[in-house]
Amino acid sequence: MLHHVGIAVEDLEKAKERYGLLGYALEAEGVVEGQGVRVAMLKKGESRLELLAPLGPETPVGRFLAKRGGGLHHLAFATQTIEEDLACLEAQGARLIDPVPRPGFGGHRVAFIHPSFSGGVLWELVEA
Ligand code: CO
Repeated sequence: MLHHVGIAVEDLEKAKERYGLLGYALEAEGVVEGQGVRVAMLKKGESRLELLAPLGPETPVGRFLAKRGGGLHHLAFATQTIEEDLACLEAQGARLIDPVPRPGFGGHRVAFIHPSFSGGVLWELVEA
């Protein structure tokens, strides 16, 4: 099941406002220091959008914005078996950005998989 869609934005307040027009309300907001990013998780029904604004240019999302501009950043899939999923993907040739799950936004353990495996989409597994 899709847990959320990650979207890189320059202006978090403006983005919150724009998605608010579609009925998405703020579920939680905070900083993930390790990633240098400010996160606003929006929710409507069962679907979530994770807005990502960089804390500075030399952060993963800052570099993403400089290179590609704002837009779709990653797809996050919910799993209850994150270690098994990572082992399975790696066995199939996926390049794991996080071979070991790390703490993500909202206290969930997360792990990213390089887009070379999916044909261009960054994947995130979220233990949830
Ligand atoms: Co995410």
